[in-house]
Amino acid sequence: MLETLKLSGLPENHCGILRHSSNTRPVIWVVEEKGVRAVVKDFSNTRFLYRNIIGRFLIWREFMAYKKLQGLTGVPTCYRVINGLALALEEIPSRPLKKHNKDMKLPEAFFDNLKNIVDSFHRRGLAHCDLKNGANVLVGHDGRPYIVDWSASISEKEFRFFPLNRVYLRFVLDDYFAIIKLKMRYVSETLTPEEKRQYAQRSHMERGVRVVRDRLRKILKKIV
Ligand SMILES: Nc1ncnc2c1ncn2[C@@H]1O[C@H](COP(=O)(O)OP(=O)(O)O)[C@@H](O)[C@H]1O
Ligand SMILES: [Mg+2]
Repeated sequence: MLETLKLSGLPENHCGILRHSSNTRPVIWVVEEKGVRAVVKDFSNTRFLYRNIIGRFLIWREFMAYKKLQGLTGVPTCYRVINGLALALEEIPSRPLKKHNKDMKLPEAFFDNLKNIVDSFHRRGLAHCDLKNGANVLVGHDGRPYIVDWSASISEKEFRFFPLNRVYLRFVLDDYFAIIKLKMRYVSETLTPEEKRQYAQRSHMERGVRVVRDRLRKILKKIV
């Protein structure tokens, strides 16, 4: 799939840009080859050191995650890695949840479907770790959720020994908490009392962590 695609040819041959690149962020192209449309996440225009150290690492990690996710509903198919610097993915006709107009109702089953997707990748031994970010959850034109951006995901296998296994479980819980947080933002009226309780408890905890972090920052500033 998309075997002849060359990164150097993308500025002339793309059929859309979903997001421009910055010093550290990849450009997201839409391309078409032989009637197949794809999205290409491409680090080749980021800064030299960033591209060759971080960019290559992130693309490799994300590719490994997509290999484990192959065939799951709600996750795009990954076609291939290009020059170690870019990932070609199935295009999901969609809009990111982040840009969803709050006045437009999401289909009722949207968050139940999202929960099913989260269950299914946890069963494959992966935690996404960045689901709170509404840019990584797409609302398909078919009304269904899709999850992208697996570069921060972690695998149960890599984290199998103590204390990392505890860290993994923490991130699994965090993925579920992310669903509650997104529900709070987009369809707060559908939250169950139990979800509201979890939200209040977790927000309280997060606030606590933030207070400690800010105090530490102040102390460090004085020392350095
Ligand atoms: N397979 C895809 N189909 C449609 N849009 C996508 C796809 N992959 C990414 N996008 C779009 O590109 C944006 C950035 O992609 P993402 O993988 O989250 O990059 P980053 O790691 O820089 O955050 C997403 O928010 C989404 O709008
Ligand atoms: Mg993202």
